[in-house]
Amino acid sequence: MYQSNLLKQSSFINGQWLASPTHFEVTNPFDNSLVGIVSNGGVAETEQAVDSAKNALKAWSEKPANERALLMRNWFELVIKNQKELAEILTLEQGKPLAEAMGEISYGASFIEWFAEEGKRVYGDTIQAPSNDKRIIVIKQPVGVVAAITPWNFPNAMIARKASAALAAGCTFVVRPAALTPLSALALAELSKQAGIPDGVFNVVVGTDSHAMGEILTTHPDVAKFTFTGSTKVGKILIKQCATTIKKVSMELGGNAPFIVFEDADINAAVEGAIISKYRNAGQTCVCTNRILVQESILDEFTEKFVKSVEALTLGNGLDLAVNVGPMISTSAVNEVHQLVTQSLNSGARLLTGGESKQGRCYLPTVLADVTNEMPIATNEIFGPVAPIISFKTEQEAIDIANDTEYGLAAYFYARDIGRVWRVSEALEFGMIGINEGIISNAAAPFGGMKQSGNGREGSKYGLEDYLEIKYLCMGGI
Ligand code: SIN
Repeated sequence: MYQSNLLKQSSFINGQWLASPTHFEVTNPFDNSLVGIVSNGGVAETEQAVDSAKNALKAWSEKPANERALLMRNWFELVIKNQKELAEILTLEQGKPLAEAMGEISYGASFIEWFAEEGKRVYGDTIQAPSNDKRIIVIKQPVGVVAAITPWNFPNAMIARKASAALAAGCTFVVRPAALTPLSALALAELSKQAGIPDGVFNVVVGTDSHAMGEILTTHPDVAKFTFTGSTKVGKILIKQCATTIKKVSMELGGNAPFIVFEDADINAAVEGAIISKYRNAGQTCVCTNRILVQESILDEFTEKFVKSVEALTLGNGLDLAVNVGPMISTSAVNEVHQLVTQSLNSGARLLTGGESKQGRCYLPTVLADVTNEMPIATNEIFGPVAPIISFKTEQEAIDIANDTEYGLAAYFYARDIGRVWRVSEALEFGMIGINEGIISNAAAPFGGMKQSGNGREGSKYGLEDYLEIKYLCMGGI
């Protein structure tokens, strides 16, 4: 089993490691080897975590923002100092190639650094009053205890992105990470303790009973805000549960990103952008390209270059430095992706490369041609390394196909005509648009979606607002 001082294996509540009577195993998705044996927390531990966050709230929220920022800065520096060890833990439990895991750790850390600074810039307002004897003032205050449920695809960065905004705003935080990947969350908790973040401010509760733990986090009266990253299906259930106590919610849900290549695009740049936005994390991100739309006049050239680049990717164990596409998270995930491919081939799609699973829950980077927007590979969120190519004739047709989905998270397009760049940017019904760019995520930018891809934003000044209440003070008798 992997040995590291950062390998913690029980819930972190009120600054303490809390053992539970039963345990669950964390395994490497590539070869099923044992990575950790974790105390299986449940209802009692989740309630304890919420109590601990509630008890820590007053002192943390009353701390001046610059003092919170100093503690968060310590946390950021410790994460960077331990980047390699954190990345190894991440690859072991999640499977992504080590270079990508290193990238995720610095991506996660960048939110801690960015929000530590942004927390100092929470401003209010004074507003013109309707009469001379009154003054209108607006102040912003932390929403209170925040609960979060985070996914297995970014076991570090999704926690860092939520927790750092919450802590910077003066909220305290409880997270239940996915049971498949709890170790990255616990390693972050250990570093928060070393950084001097006070007990109870950042709590991690680990366990396999997602329903019971989720129910507490979404219905507990002491939780003021709930935030989730995961599927739209689960998000809908959680929003309903949050309605019972009218929590503030922010939801980062599923996506079905179109990647449009217009005939005036730089085709080599488009190929490069499509490779990174499709095959990053073996296609297991919410913002991964889901459908590639290519204008008919450049279809052959784009397709040939794209398939060549796909065939140059190396699939395998994320710990092997030559590998750039790792395993999928589980055997059922591999089977689901293969089923989408098979159904689409049966409906008339053409296999250009890939189309089969390999040793170690790996699925060959796959490209399908002659796809239509009605095929299952286009209507579903694939969450795997498969690129369906759909052709189109006109700009309007591309926009119509791109928007023909219930999702609205990310979209990408490649074009050089400045008029087209504006028209298409404004017409696409997605929260984030990559224009001649396949990687759009960063701490300073608002991450989030429209339609059934969720609500609220993470990262950026808008992400901080999601953790603040607006309070209006009306002063009379002046
Ligand atoms: C996600 O897939 O949910 C997050 C991807 C990102 O932050 O880039």
